[in-house]
Amino acid sequence: MTSDIITTQVKTTAQLTTGKIIQKRMVLADVFKLSIEHSRISRISKPGQFVNIKLSDQLTPLLRRPFSITAVNAEAGWFEILFKVIGEGTRRLALLEPGEMINLIGPLGNSFWLSSQTKRALLVAGGLGVAPLAFLLQHLYQLKIKKTLFWGNQTKELFLAYPEIKHSCLELFYTTDDGSMGYHGLVTDLFAEVIPKFEHEAVQIFACGPNPMLQKIQQVATQNGIDCQLSLETLMGCGFGACMGCNVQSASGESYFYTCSDGPVFNAKDIKVDG
Ligand SMILES: Cc1cc2nc3c(=O)[nH]c(=O)nc-3n(C[C@H](O)[C@H](O)[C@H](O)COP(=O)(O)OP(=O)(O)OC[C@H]3O[C@@H](n4cnc5c(N)ncnc54)[C@H](O)[C@@H]3O)c2cc1C
Ligand code: FES
Repeated sequence: MTSDIITTQVKTTAQLTTGKIIQKRMVLADVFKLSIEHSRISRISKPGQFVNIKLSDQLTPLLRRPFSITAVNAEAGWFEILFKVIGEGTRRLALLEPGEMINLIGPLGNSFWLSSQTKRALLVAGGLGVAPLAFLLQHLYQLKIKKTLFWGNQTKELFLAYPEIKHSCLELFYTTDDGSMGYHGLVTDLFAEVIPKFEHEAVQIFACGPNPMLQKIQQVATQNGIDCQLSLETLMGCGFGACMGCNVQSASGESYFYTCSDGPVFNAKDIKVDG
């Protein structure tokens, strides 16, 4: 468990390295957790940061694939990623077994940061967007602030496959698109309904999920004048600012940020989120 608190936004220098897979768990069909031994990454990573993994020496897939760090154990020297198989890169990742080495760059990107005024953290996750937020909860666990997680999924299976999340969170709202668990509907609908309950508290919002979800959270945060950080999952190339492949438009529309090096965590008021 980490002990330092994220009161400022952290960025680290990109380093090419290798780590050894020490555990692989299938938490759900096509959803895996990999524990990777790497003392430096487990020691210095902050919630919101990611690793960019090389998955082939061939031409396909040519580009590395980015994955959020979802947990660390600095004492034991390992960190975890949580991923779903959706294409060639993640298919290859799912074939790796404990004992194999993995080529990665990290930790990359910036981190979430917490204001000293904050008395309650509201976390909003869409599907596997829970990955960086679970790591944030690991940090927040040691703080005397209230924590509420809103987590939406299409069906109940991912909640059941990832029970650890319950242990680090005081207040938890589940939503499912099919009504199989918790609130029946979108996580953003429940969030918009519940947000007035917190209006007299010093609150910060932290969100990660699909862009339409982030757009809605951005809107709700703006309407309620609440500080809000969004973690984006833009398609990436290099992962450290060299290829210009991960643009996100500034709120004014007059300039661009790179998700990999200016983000992936952005203050919601600074950016335009594509739908
Ligand atoms: C900062 C960051 C953190 C991420 N963290 C995680 C994580 O913790 N767990 C996880 O499972 N995934 C995460 N992702 C997404 C992950 O990198 C993609 O799932 C992965 O690149 C897909 O690779 P692939 O080769 O399997 O699929 P591809 O063959 O590259 O793509 C298959 C299909 O999925 C679409 N796709 C690929 N990546 C994305 C994306 N980022 N957003 C929307 N559509 C996409 C493609 O357009 C294509 O249609 C993260 C992405 C970023 C940028
Ligand atoms: S991925 Fe290359 S600049 Fe962001």
